[in-house]
Amino acid sequence: MKPVDLAAETAIVETLKHHDVSFTLISEESGFKKIGGASEECFVTVDPIDGTTNLIHGLPFYASSIAISSKRDIESVYAGMVADIAHDVTYTAFEGKGAYRNGKRIDTSKEVSLDNAVVGLDMNTYQGKLVIPKVAGLFEKARHIRHFGANALEICYVANGLIDAFIDIRSKIRTTDVAAGFLIVKEANGIVTTADNKAINVPLDPKQTLDFIASANLEIHKQILSLVKP
Ligand code: IPD
Ligand code: CA
Repeated sequence: MKPVDLAAETAIVETLKHHDVSFTLISEESGFKKIGGASEECFVTVDPIDGTTNLIHGLPFYASSIAISSKRDIESVYAGMVADIAHDVTYTAFEGKGAYRNGKRIDTSKEVSLDNAVVGLDMNTYQGKLVIPKVAGLFEKARHIRHFGANALEICYVANGLIDAFIDIRSKIRTTDVAAGFLIVKEANGIVTTADNKAINVPLDPKQTLDFIASANLEIHKQILSLVKP
């Protein structure tokens, strides 16, 4: 944990306390904490800074991510926010009410060709020997593969139609990084499943990791599923 992560967490928690709310904080940095006589019915899952390495290097691609849920599992998230701090852009979603970029409704792309699609792929791993064979087929078909280094924001780029899919099958990304992003991309008409096309339902816990494919539409999702080995 870097000082900037802790400072961001403190700022988020202090702001929430100021509003006199009770909740269980689930933070990437400090784990579980009851705030304000916490009711078991409100969970606030936070990644104070997603993309810390970018931030420290002065690369303007990092975010704060906050998800609110009624239970301690990722499927129960009903409100999400990802703040692209360097660009003063905020992505939000409320279950059943759509996804928004600075208050304006957003939608995923309609791109169906892997020749044209921009596909985000997190290969940031120490286990290349395990992960590279799983995505070798994708490297052969997708012409424009990217990784910018802040997965919460990259999922919002799918939601906003800037990229057409984002894949992380390293079994390394934590629920705290993706809880808000998943709701945002789904509310923008995107699709999120595991690499074997199952719904994702894991406990919200900073220690819990997961694999996922987030796509702009069903057609591109099916093509990616056929090229990625679970
Ligand atoms: C990191 C980013 C990065 C991913 C790492 C994550 P953090 O989040 O999302 O893109 O490759 O696995 O840990 O650590 O900066 O919150
Ligand atoms: Ca973080």
